Amino acid sequence: MSNVYTQKIIVLVGYMSAGKTTIAKEIANRFKLTYYDTDEIIENTFNQSINNIFDKHGELFFRKIEHQVFSEIMNDKNAVIISTGGGLPCYFNNHEFLKYDHVNSIYLKYQPQTLVNRLLADKKNRPLINQLSDEELLEFVSKHLFERNYYYMQAKHILPCDNKSINEILNECISIIDTK
Ligand code: S3P
Repeated sequence: MSNVYTQKIIVLVGYMSAGKTTIAKEIANRFKLTYYDTDEIIENTFNQSINNIFDKHGELFFRKIEHQVFSEIMNDKNAVIISTGGGLPCYFNNHEFLKYDHVNSIYLKYQPQTLVNRLLADKKNRPLINQLSDEELLEFVSKHLFERNYYYMQAKHILPCDNKSINEILNECISIIDTK
């Protein structure tokens, strides 16, 4: 395994709870890349949780800031890895960035039921689903994923992740970025 990867901006996309942050941090460590997390940047900038930002300012406000933050990082010429919020590719043409030559984008793809299993424990911190009952979650995630799939599928690499350990997913991501 090499550790000299320096060329492209790596962007991880996928639904809430796909493990984007965990994987991105690990890759950043391995390849000594600058790591960005769009949600974390927004929370730090406003000194508020994403939940609070949605409550106080609304989703559209959040999406505009998210686009601004993402565009700025994408114009950074140094090699970086970005973990994106689950809705990011679906607004303000952010998905167009995923196809740029200097971008290595990976979609961490799961079936709705797997996402629901992962989301059940952490529903309260997620403004789009914190009002839903556990019973409503599967239908919501299935429809939502169906609508979003078009945008996620613009990523250059589609990585099916169901039934894989974090380590397996990490290694598959590394082999993708190591060879491209
Ligand atoms: C969102 C996903 C969240 C966060 C916000 C909206 C979405 O990020 O950006 O709550 O629209 O799917 P994670 O995917 O990191 O949970």
